This record gives sequence, structure tokens and C-alpha cells, in this order.
Amino acid sequence: MYQVYPRSFADANGDGTGDIDGIRSRLPYLRQLGVNAIWVCPWYPSPLNDGGYDVADYRDIDPRFGTLADAEALIAEAHALDIRVLVDIVPNHTSNEHPWFRAALAAAPGSPERERYLFRQGRGPDGDLPPTNWTCVFGGPAWRRVPDGQWYLHLFDSTQPDLNWANEEVRAEFDDIFRFWLDRGVDGFRIDVSHGMVKDLTFPDVPTIEELLETSKTTDHPHWDRDGVHEINQRWRRVLDDSRRDVMMVAEAWVSNESQPLYLRPDEYHQVFNFEFLVTPWDRDAAAIAIQRAVAAAQAVGSAPTWTLSNHDVMRHASRFGLPADTNWRTWPLTGPHDLLDAELGLRRARAGSLLLMALPGSVYLYQGEELGLPEVWDLPPEVLDDPVWEDSGHTQKGRDGCRVPLPWSSDGPSFGFGDGDAWLPQPKWFGDLSVAAQTDVPGSTLELYRTALAARAEYMSHDESLEWLDLGAEVLAFRRGSGAICVVNYGEATIDLPHGDVIVASTDVSAGLPIDACAWVRPG
Ligand code: GLC
Repeated sequence: MYQVYPRSFADANGDGTGDIDGIRSRLPYLRQLGVNAIWVCPWYPSPLNDGGYDVADYRDIDPRFGTLADAEALIAEAHALDIRVLVDIVPNHTSNEHPWFRAALAAAPGSPERERYLFRQGRGPDGDLPPTNWTCVFGGPAWRRVPDGQWYLHLFDSTQPDLNWANEEVRAEFDDIFRFWLDRGVDGFRIDVSHGMVKDLTFPDVPTIEELLETSKTTDHPHWDRDGVHEINQRWRRVLDDSRRDVMMVAEAWVSNESQPLYLRPDEYHQVFNFEFLVTPWDRDAAAIAIQRAVAAAQAVGSAPTWTLSNHDVMRHASRFGLPADTNWRTWPLTGPHDLLDAELGLRRARAGSLLLMALPGSVYLYQGEELGLPEVWDLPPEVLDDPVWEDSGHTQKGRDGCRVPLPWSSDGPSFGFGDGDAWLPQPKWFGDLSVAAQTDVPGSTLELYRTALAARAEYMSHDESLEWLDLGAEVLAFRRGSGAICVVNYGEATIDLPHGDVIVASTDVSAGLPIDACAWVRPG
């Protein structure tokens, strides 16, 4: 599965923003890369306050990205190349420009229009304190006051009001949105913040850290991962099953290891993103534990694990792996930790980590540009930052723009082949050296490594879901897959001998053994 962030993938009309025609023009590239499916991040009409995760109309395409006809053409052309298409559904909140929210603001407290969202009176004598102490994921309080004195809930930016999933009208609307896209031929859905829709409607405060230490309240959070989400999952699953097509849905659910299998029950999601693997530092035992846990959890409910190292919300793994292990990369430090970053180490480990990822049983989710070994772009100047995290955090966190810089397709040109004009986020000068053109047919390039690995994955790593651990030393991660192929990663301090046999693919030159921070697949001879 290849994640397309449409704003930053390819810009066919030269307006600086990627578009559907851009994706269409690059389908042959994706075919050649060897992906089976694409997940397209939100392309709906949107003020783009949160890169499109603020949807104003779930049944149309933003004119900056194209038209519905373009979307249908993309789906058909992808299918002709045997590439499936997933769209992103954002059910937790709409944009404040959605007609429902406009109607809610225009209507009175207590009206049916307000009942589609979560409006409440404030606390304190004049109601001028927020109804709860809940905080916005991007920073600051999760409530905003409207002129008549009520407050509305927004777990994300204040331009992303949370929907009221206790309201049948909201539920029915989303059934219909799923059907709308199924009718247009999509093969599935990635569900945004799927663990957040259901709120405790008694609106208790979130316990403080001290309270949490005294009680065991962690299992009953007022807005994350509440039991009620499963009923909604089941409802959607019925909509998908009723289509009688081979379609799937994958949950973005940042939930505990205990909770995850619940989302994967046979009448709920087909897949859930496994973020434990993503946040695991470069460490042999930590990686082994994360892999083992995900494999076991998926097997327990008859599902398949998912693996990912990068997406549009996290620092690119070529940079993450080049930082000291204790760096809090999640806060996207303001001043680039250039002094802390070992870019060469990061890329070496990223290539090894990606090769490990592609050897695992289940589904692999790649994020656009990782096949070029793109690092995070650290030095975007504050004036171009677009992620609401920058404002909402009071300029203490830079946000996620550094992993969203438009892709370089050629070594030169106005936006390195992204489009005919300047890209919506500035690309660094060195982007051209990492472009598709600069890496195509270059032995050893990261792009060629991904191409080779994806082809070999189809041949050696997709026979079945089995994984048998091998003991090749305390600092070596090694396992055998159903085809007999062995994957070896060297986390240690010295080059090791590879098992006897033919090397299928390797993240670096292995003619003298497997160097540190490297991975190879071997077909035992
Ligand atoms: C998800 C998306 C992220 C977005 C948030 C709010 O986490 O991946 O990009 O900001 O939801 O919709």
C-alpha cells in the first residue's frame, strides 16, 4: 500500500499544489515501483486548514485537486494497472466550513442543527470556562466559544468541530458517504482517528497525571478508544459487506496493544495501523518485541498485521533513525537538530529498516517519498509553515510540514518536476539529487532498492503469514519466511557473516558480510 498525499505528490496544472491528474500521470511509476494499492489522503473540498483533514463536503473533490470525473478516471486507470484505490474518510470532525457546521452556528442552542456537533454550556458563573479540561491534540483547549455563549468541542484544530456520533443523523450520513465512494469504484477506506468518535456525554474531566497514578482510570478515557466505537465499526463493516465487492477498511487507531485486536474482529476492520513498530527505536530487542506482538495480535483474530515506518504525521524515518535514541522527534524541534542528526546513519538504517519491513508477513504501508530515501526537511522557515500544529502549539512545535514537502521527480526545473511552477512548500536545493530521475536505474539507489525489494517481496515474502525466528546472535534479528527465504538485520557493532546461500536483496554492499545497520534477504543454498 502506497500512501499518496495529493497536495505534495505531483502537480499537473502547475499551480503549485498536487492534483489528481498529477497522480494519474504517475500511475506507471507506481506500477513500476511494484505497489498493489494506493491510499489517497483527503481530496475533498476543504479550506485545507489541516491539509484536507478538515472536510467541507465528503462527496466531492476540491477544485485544487480536480473534479469527481478526474477521481473516477484515476480509479479506472489504477484498476487497469492492477492498482487498488483507498480513500480517506474523516468521521470524527468536519471542517467549520461544512454546511452542517454553518447551519449549527446560525441555529439556536438546543436546535437539531447543533445536535450534529458537541455544543455545551461552559462552566463557571458566566459559563465562560470551557465545559471540560480536555485539550486539543495540536495544543491548547479543545473547546471554543461561539457568540451566544455555548462552546463546541474540537479535539483537533478549532476549524475541525467534532461530530456527535450519538446522533443517528450523523451515523446515517456516513453510511451514505461510504456508499457514495463504493459506487465510484473505490476498493476501500482509511479511517481517520477511528478511536475518537465516541465521547463520554457526561463530559467528565480527563484525569490529571496524579489522579491517573492513584486510580486505574486509563481504560475509561472520556474520548479515546471508548467501547461505543465498535458498534460504529460494525455498522460500517455491514455497509462494506453489503456492497458485495472485495473492499476493505483500515483504522488509524492510536490505541493500546490490548485494545487493537478488538478493532480487528471479523465484523469490524480488516486492518489497523500498527504504530508500535513505527515508534520503535533502532534496537534489536525492541524491534523483535514489536514484530512478535503485532504478529500474535493479528493471528489471534484471524487478521494480518500491518507495518509502516513513515506517514504524513511523523518525522520521516530517514531522519528519525539518524537522531540519538532519546530525541523526542514527535515535537518536531524548532531549530533543526542538525548537530544531533547523523544523516548518513539515518539513511543507512532507514534502508535496512524498510527492507526489514518488506520482509514481514501481512501488509506494508509506504509513504510517498520514502522510496527516495527522503529525509525530513528541517529548515522550513516559520513563514511557510502550514500545519495547524505550529499555531495551536503557540509556536513551540514546528509541526508536520517537513515530511510533506512536494516530491522531486527530476533533477532540476522549477519544482524538480513536481509541476511547472513553484511548489506550495519550498523544496531544498538538494532535493534534485534525490529525485526519481536521479535514482532511476542507478544501482544501489534507494529507489532501486525499493523496486527490487517489492518485486522480491512478491516472490519470497508473500507465500504465507508464517515467521520463524532464528538465533544468529544477540544483536542480530533474523527470521525465516514460508518460502524459506531468510531476513537478517545487523543491529550490532561489527560485520557478521550471512547465512549460506544467495543474497536476494540487501540494503548495502554485502560482499564482505553484513555490515552494521544493514539488512539482507538470503535464499539458503
Ligand atoms: C489524523 C491524520 C492527521 C490529522 C488528524 C485530524 O491523525 O492523519 O493528519 O491532522 O487525524 O484529522
